Amino acid sequence: MRAWTRLAPVVAAGLAAALLVPLMDAQADEAGPVTVVTSTFEDGTTGGWVPRGAEVLSHSTTVAHGGTGSLAIAGRTRTWEGPVLDVLGTFDKGVRYTISVWVRLATGSDSARLSVERRTGGTASYDQVVGNTALTAGAWVNLTGTYTLATDVEYLTVYVETASGFGDLHLDDVTISYVPDTPIQTDIPSVKDVVAEFPVGAAITPAALLGEHGKLLAKHFDSITPGNALKWDATEPAEGTFRFADADAMVTFAKAHGQAVRGHTLVWHNQTPAWVFLDANGNAMTATPENKALLLARLEAHIRGVAGHYGADIPVWDVVNEVIDESQSDGYRRSRWYEITGLDYIRTAFRVTREVLPNAKLFINDYNTNVPAKRDKLHALVALLKSEGVPVDGVGHQMHVNIDWPSTAETEAMITTFVPLGVEQQITEMDVSIYTGNGESFPAPPADRLLKVAYKYRDLFALYRRYATEITSVTVWGLADDDTWLDTFPVTRKDAPLLFDTRLQAKDAYWGVVDPSKIGTTTPAPTPTGGATAGACAVTYRVTGQWQGGFQGDVKITNTSAAALSSWTLGWNFTAGQQLSQLWGGTGSQSGTTVTVRNASWNGTLAPGASTGAGFLASWTGTNPAPSAFTLNGTACTSA
Ligand code: XIL
Repeated sequence: MRAWTRLAPVVAAGLAAALLVPLMDAQADEAGPVTVVTSTFEDGTTGGWVPRGAEVLSHSTTVAHGGTGSLAIAGRTRTWEGPVLDVLGTFDKGVRYTISVWVRLATGSDSARLSVERRTGGTASYDQVVGNTALTAGAWVNLTGTYTLATDVEYLTVYVETASGFGDLHLDDVTISYVPDTPIQTDIPSVKDVVAEFPVGAAITPAALLGEHGKLLAKHFDSITPGNALKWDATEPAEGTFRFADADAMVTFAKAHGQAVRGHTLVWHNQTPAWVFLDANGNAMTATPENKALLLARLEAHIRGVAGHYGADIPVWDVVNEVIDESQSDGYRRSRWYEITGLDYIRTAFRVTREVLPNAKLFINDYNTNVPAKRDKLHALVALLKSEGVPVDGVGHQMHVNIDWPSTAETEAMITTFVPLGVEQQITEMDVSIYTGNGESFPAPPADRLLKVAYKYRDLFALYRRYATEITSVTVWGLADDDTWLDTFPVTRKDAPLLFDTRLQAKDAYWGVVDPSKIGTTTPAPTPTGGATAGACAVTYRVTGQWQGGFQGDVKITNTSAAALSSWTLGWNFTAGQQLSQLWGGTGSQSGTTVTVRNASWNGTLAPGASTGAGFLASWTGTNPAPSAFTLNGTACTSA
């Protein structure tokens, strides 16, 4: 789920009235979002919302975000009590919905989050749509996130809850919409046919099997890696209770489409439930012989349960993941596994997996294996394990890389280093970030970065293919840019690291793999923030008041194109150290120097020639120059 940092909007009535021209009744253009739920609470009812527990919901005219009505939530005695909307008959599987709500806390302070509860066969699951977002008394705060239902359910609701308190809430201006899938391109070569030297895979989340996503997955890839569905927290959330529904669906899909499945992962320090490391008395394990025996027994039972469930259906496993830490002189990551068992967890994991699956290929998988220090520590561990007779068949190189790093030469050295060990090598998690540092953030991927992504794919795939005798499969960590873990790791910002864009269309990166002579021939996807089409724009930026350390400003945006916009994202850079602190007329965030402002629920639609805007408070030191350039939905604007 994408979760942009949000600043509490401040309703500055006078300024807002002068600046903002909401166009309430303009129609979305054809490619734009389809709205399936609107709750404005202007009709005197609670709009179908019900309480989650014993709290009381009523229609209110005391406060409103827009218009005069809202929904009041009072008498809460538990944090999870809040307004609930039934969306069972509304949401279709495989469709990515954008959910936007406005929440107001009456008194005190707290945080609110937006979630989905779904039930299948009586078992409830809770999915976070927007994480905890700060609330302050009397201020309307927007929560916007996206959600895709991937399983059959008999119960499905959207709800708001708080993090810590039971304060009275108001809810208003709820919209739920989706952008219809663009059909995939069927007239372009399949990646798996062009790259015939080894299977090419994609890591996936459950929704990737459905609709156009499923068609894209089947057309281009001959291998699937469940991105999370085989991890310990997914498969054995409680001791001895195994859950395989998500991964089973992926294996079924793979079989139906003649695809292989890579198993990821049996042992890791992340996404492992807390119970695994509790001792016989329920306390955190310390490094004792008893705890070591208990932990290794749990490890063995887990592997027998998971690898045994799939048998020959999953013939290659990342048995252990990320066990190297090159900053340790011995190179061994100080995980709970290592602290309690030393290297025995690795030995046990490989031995047991081999016993369960005598014919499977067993991998040790890690990231940054191109970095010489890490590469050499991994090499030393594999050499040690092999000398002991531990059944390691292969080394997995994750290859989470970026546009500038690593070089082809360094990547080649990574491959050649492991050749003397006689192990297979696989590229297991490749993606190419458009960012080279944590301080960068773009509202939409700039064209030059997308080209660099394409060149990186071109160069690294060419290298992998030259080493096809060593490299036995290459997997990219995601199907398309609408669902990439890099949107929230290591910081929240839109990334574009894969072969297909947010509308599932082939990017230059795809051509980098398939036919580099065609790099530069694709049209970048429009902004990923809700289906708006990019258009020409004009922006006026004003500083309306300035004092020591602070200033107030506003921006006016005019859609100078011939097409209506259905949502907008404005971007600029504060290059002199200015820092946005509050914003109204939209939601604002700043990452590094990059400011990103997205429309509010009521001013996203902009007809040709229409204007809207936002106001803000920010801090400054030294100088306070106006930004020199703006982008609207990823397109450069003229400023005035
Ligand atoms: C990532 C998943 O893609 C995310 O959805 C999840 O929140 C965190 O893990 N290295 C790995 C993968 O080995 O398991 C990680 O997958 C990405 C980094």
